[in-house]
Amino acid sequence: MKILVVGGGGREHAIIKAIKKNPDVEKIYALPGNGGIAADAVCVNVGATDIVGIVDFAAKNAIDYAVVAPDDPLALGCVDELEAIGIPCFGPSRDAAVIEASKAFAKSLMKKYGIPTARFETFTNMDRALEYIDKVGAPIVVKADGLALGKGVTVAMSVEEARAAVRDMMEGGKFGASGATVVIEEYLEGPEVSVLSFTDGNTVVPMVSSMDHKRAGDGDVGPNTGGMGTIAPNPFYTPEVAERCMREIFLPTIKAMNAEGRTFRGCLYFGLMITKDGPKVIEYNCRFGDPETQVVLPLLKSDLLTVMRAVTDGKLSETKVEFSDKSACCVVLASRGYPVKYQSGFELGLPRTGEGREIYVAGAELRDGKLLSHGGRVLGCVAVEDDLEDAIAGAYELADQVRFENGFCRRDIGQRAIKALKG
Ligand code: AMP
Ligand code: GLY
Repeated sequence: MKILVVGGGGREHAIIKAIKKNPDVEKIYALPGNGGIAADAVCVNVGATDIVGIVDFAAKNAIDYAVVAPDDPLALGCVDELEAIGIPCFGPSRDAAVIEASKAFAKSLMKKYGIPTARFETFTNMDRALEYIDKVGAPIVVKADGLALGKGVTVAMSVEEARAAVRDMMEGGKFGASGATVVIEEYLEGPEVSVLSFTDGNTVVPMVSSMDHKRAGDGDVGPNTGGMGTIAPNPFYTPEVAERCMREIFLPTIKAMNAEGRTFRGCLYFGLMITKDGPKVIEYNCRFGDPETQVVLPLLKSDLLTVMRAVTDGKLSETKVEFSDKSACCVVLASRGYPVKYQSGFELGLPRTGEGREIYVAGAELRDGKLLSHGGRVLGCVAVEDDLEDAIAGAYELADQVRFENGFCRRDIGQRAIKALKG
């Protein structure tokens, strides 16, 4: 089989490495991939948002199956367009991807179907938004409606900060059209859990839970990033919480999307907060998380491509999806200065990996046979071990063997989870 994977980050590298294990796979194309992914797939210089280019490539190269990984092409209808020329895909249609592409849609869906989430109001008028903030006070959370590279959220501890965020989005055009509508919501407290799930629109199979570390600095300080590291499983996701999530959140969401005529097939990502009143949805993503995927897929014992095709064919209920009971940790090596300002072009020296160790390349290019850093997040160093403490130690050991002069990582990935485990 010839497989096409749309995207070019660490998540896509993890997906490609997992798909590659299937013996029926002859060739994997990554559009656009990156210099590190080139070791595992044929990288083709077609951008992930160039839907016409992607469809054209797929048609000309007799692609048997496509995986559309990032949010932008999903929101642009890449799956719809590929399916229109007869190529089966993993990923939701444009109509279903709106669950991530519009926070206003996601929030109103949850309200309509009684799915637990923070109380909220949606605004298209700035003065109304500012009045609302003055009325309810801080802490309060301001979110741009549309896609904003995971950076469209301000958790404001003061009214002034919240007002400034609204002005930036609605007057300053900080996130372009994505900020023309804002969602203002109640501040929630509690540990966060990411749950990625496979769903074919009828069955929902949660994957092993994980925990992201979104802030750039140790101790969860500094600006929000795309994610500086992850661990799995997440100790805050107890069997009781899992059972409640299935009943109150996962199944109701799948049913709600069906009722709206927007059946979701693919990976639905639930960003949850475990509050004292129970689990609540912070956000939905219409795709695998990055860098959650880098810890979740190494724990998947079943064949990824088989599970993906079962999702596409509506046969998930007949398919075994098994995870190992080990633990995984991913430490992201990013370019110094990320997410604000950083330089590319530094040579990367990668150590050998072996059993239970992986390096997924998120941002790199090959030039004259050398691998050079390219972009903010550059590498994900992953270790799988019997327990979390060893996985964390293994991931840092691997990260410390990487030669990357301009790189930095957080040194505390997983420490919050360890603390929770030790009670
Ligand atoms: P999002 O992009 O929606 O996942 O939001 C980014 C981060 O902002 C989340 O991971 C949370 O840490 C935080 N956040 C979002 N919504 C809330 C909320 N209602 N209360 C507290 N923190 C929030
Ligand atoms: N790591 C969070 C995300 O993929 O949105």
